[in-house]
Amino acid sequence: MNLIFATGNLNKLQEIKSLIPKDININDLNSLNFYEEIPENENSIEKNAVFKAKFIYNKYNINVFADDTGLEVEALNGEPGVFSARYAGKECDSNKNMEKLLKNLLDKKNRKASFKTVIALILDNKLYKFEGIVNGTITNFKKGNKGFGYDPIFIPEGYEKSFAEFSINEKNGISHRSIAVKKLINFLKK
Ligand code: IMP
Repeated sequence: MNLIFATGNLNKLQEIKSLIPKDININDLNSLNFYEEIPENENSIEKNAVFKAKFIYNKYNINVFADDTGLEVEALNGEPGVFSARYAGKECDSNKNMEKLLKNLLDKKNRKASFKTVIALILDNKLYKFEGIVNGTITNFKKGNKGFGYDPIFIPEGYEKSFAEFSINEKNGISHRSIAVKKLINFLKK
């Protein structure tokens, strides 16, 4: 089976490829010579994932899945959530996003947060959705240099180290994306 993963993010492609059985051939958007950013203007993580999958399906008429992820922080009423990628504004990067989040949490005792991933799959013109959530806490400062995004400031429940201190395989064992991907794989295997 051939599937396009609607991303240009090599970290995500690598994470997902290491989880998916070899008989499912995954390629990213670069394999379609598509190098643009797909707009992420919807008001929920789920809607963004569906939008991205539909965008590629409509353009190339090809089986495709897209994911969208957000970090939801309890003391900030679920922020940054759907705005996780651009939390610190237009010119933001992961460091600026993390710094803003740590600053907004400075006076907060409640450090509970969760990562949520939604995968939208369009297979033979039908839409399917898969969700993965991992609960944890936000650190007081950045820890570790692996992973990407908010990994250095997120400690998953039951651990004392941040996601940025996990190897890819360890992170894949428990992460929000791997939970959603495993649901996707189980569906594809049926
Ligand atoms: P998206 O899934 O690319 O839309 O991700 C939204 C935001 O969440 C971006 O800022 C990513 O860097 C961040 N993000 C997505 N997945 C992860 C993850 O597994 N760990 C840490 N940050 C992530």
